[in-house]
Amino acid sequence: MNQGIFITIEGGEGAGKSSLIGQLANTLQKLGKAVTVTREPGGIPIAEQIRGVILDTANTAMDARTEALLYAAARRQHLVEKVLPALQGGHIVLCDRFVDSSLAYQGHARGLGMEEVWRINEFAIAGVMPHLTLYMDVSPETGLGRIAMNEVREVNRLDLERHSFHERVRAGYQLLLQQFPERMVQIDAEQSPERVLQSAMDVIQRRFAGL
Ligand code: TYD
Repeated sequence: MNQGIFITIEGGEGAGKSSLIGQLANTLQKLGKAVTVTREPGGIPIAEQIRGVILDTANTAMDARTEALLYAAARRQHLVEKVLPALQGGHIVLCDRFVDSSLAYQGHARGLGMEEVWRINEFAIAGVMPHLTLYMDVSPETGLGRIAMNEVREVNRLDLERHSFHERVRAGYQLLLQQFPERMVQIDAEQSPERVLQSAMDVIQRRFAGL
């Protein structure tokens, strides 16, 4: 496919994905690796515009399939404009959320079905899957508590969902871990940030020789 390494970071709300990604990037760069950090929609104008529609608190009428299709569309654009060029340049790409978010949130938590959501995403990603996915596991209590304490981060429409929704998201990720045991590894995100980083680096170094 290409020479780079594609790593995605997944998790529920307040799992600490962005902190971990920043620290992983630092650590890997210190080891002399070229790293691209990105997140869907990744500053890609077309994908940002699509995401703006999804997350607009005014769009309470949005149908679940519409939401799933919009995520897949934004994903496609970000993949083509940002992820693939970085991989072709030999970078380690650390991506905050990818297809597993749609499978857990839209497929499982919203009840569309993981199979159905996989089908539209299969079209969108056209065979490009992460080499490794780190799933950061946190209880909804801890995760939502962290968000409530974080004044910088804006509360979006999905944050406002009921607690049970977040439980279903977590259950969806557990199903994915069973389905993709080779690709997905769970990290206990209730540990201290130092231990979370160490756990993630251990997994990465075990998986990719020479890192
Ligand atoms: P984001 O802005 O990345 O926030 P965070 O990752 O910090 O939680 O994501 C916003 C929301 O979008 C988040 O609640 C997860 C949700 N989401 C989906 O439901 N499906 C998807 O495919 C993606 C990428 C995100």
